[in-house]
Amino acid sequence: MSDIAKLQIGENSYEFPLVKGTENEVAIDIKALRSATNGVITIDPGYKNTGSCESAITFLDGEKGILRYRGYSIEELAEKADFLEVAYALIFGDLPTKEQLDKFHADIKTKSVVDDDIKKILDAFPKTAHPMGILSSLTSALTAFNPSSVNVDSEEEMYNAIVKIMAKFPVLVAWTMRKQKGLPLNYGSKSLGYVENIMKMMFEEPNEDYVMNPIIKDALDKLLILHADHEQNCSTSTVRIVGSSHAGLFASLSAGISALWGPLHGGANQAVLEMLEAIKADGGDTKKYMAKAKDKSDPFRLMGFGHRVYKNFDPRAKIIKKAADEVLKDLGIEDPILDIARGLEQEALNDPYFVDRKLYPNVDFYSGIIYRAMNIPVEMFTVMFAMGRLPGWIAQWKEMRLGKEPIGRPRQIYTGENLRPFKTIDNR
Ligand code: ACO
Repeated sequence: MSDIAKLQIGENSYEFPLVKGTENEVAIDIKALRSATNGVITIDPGYKNTGSCESAITFLDGEKGILRYRGYSIEELAEKADFLEVAYALIFGDLPTKEQLDKFHADIKTKSVVDDDIKKILDAFPKTAHPMGILSSLTSALTAFNPSSVNVDSEEEMYNAIVKIMAKFPVLVAWTMRKQKGLPLNYGSKSLGYVENIMKMMFEEPNEDYVMNPIIKDALDKLLILHADHEQNCSTSTVRIVGSSHAGLFASLSAGISALWGPLHGGANQAVLEMLEAIKADGGDTKKYMAKAKDKSDPFRLMGFGHRVYKNFDPRAKIIKKAADEVLKDLGIEDPILDIARGLEQEALNDPYFVDRKLYPNVDFYSGIIYRAMNIPVEMFTVMFAMGRLPGWIAQWKEMRLGKEPIGRPRQIYTGENLRPFKTIDNR
């Protein structure tokens, strides 16, 4: 293939260089398009064909169902690594040695206290507030308690900001859930591993010692790993674009949480469970809901199906489905919701509507079933996703800032009124 793309606009032709990634992905570098063509731009709503950056963090091939962080396959990471190791690899570029991991964890532990005044902010939210709104606000509020902005040219300042948020974010997550459940706000224990500590903070009852179930811990580790990064998705692009204005790390993350909240993105795990519950309450007739999903005059969509980039099985869905089976078996849970989920999956995988459009179950189709088995309230599901995505957002923010990327500022094609005279109010 030539390394030049040719563009013809009317009489004029232009040449643009091609950019090739390490997995042979090809892009046309149009940085010079507007200046060379005297104002022509590209238009691509939803950025379906637009690469916003070059990135060395995550590779995915949606056609083949491949996902890798820093070159490691998601299957191998979910099987052999723990969440903190994966977080380190995403943020710093490679899997840590034992010493590097121990230091990272020890540094995180030293920063795990959250200013007690944050509790006053949490207290001001009504109990009915959605946990994603609370989490986004508390993450933003952390800026007020840690006001110094990060000098990204200082490795030490960058490291400290990363360690701080890796330490405090799980506390905010646990407190958000405990507030909703009416439980006292607690702390974990420095003697525990990163994920074990998260579990203790979330699930410990005030009047009994917390006993950890290793199968649930393993499933949570996997869920967090599988959600840890997904290249330039909606929330990650948000974190990068907010950070590109040189807003701080915590403020950028808070914006990412808001982006993740929507039901077409991270909010899908909550929407899946609500959909399965609704189908169950309506008699469990999966065929009726399959028909609704295919009916173009009906806004209903099969939540947990389809993906912007996966046009094949979402590799994360396969791993999660297996983990869900193990957790339910271990806990002895017979969940009719799971039967409905399995029924929908089987029907969709054999239905020409879904097959032709390459709509497969995505990561969120099964994650909610595990969260439910762990006794996590439905509204907290997307918060769990956010906790998993944290290292990915941090890694992408760091890469963007260290790469000295320019401020994100797309253009538009204006389709409004041409210049017209102002009419005074009594003449309108
Ligand atoms: N149920 C029924 N039909 C669907 C579904 C679905 N879940 N998803 C897509 N389609 C149909 C669309 O109606 C469209 O049909 P058409 O070509 O006849 O008009 C076609 O498939 C393509 O759909 P688009 O919406 O154009 O695909 P897009 O890439 O823009 O959207 C998305 C992807 C948002 C994920 C979509 O599949 C969807 O809404 N899924 C349900 C929500 C969901 O599970 N989101 C989680 C995504 S994973 C994550 O964020 C972690």
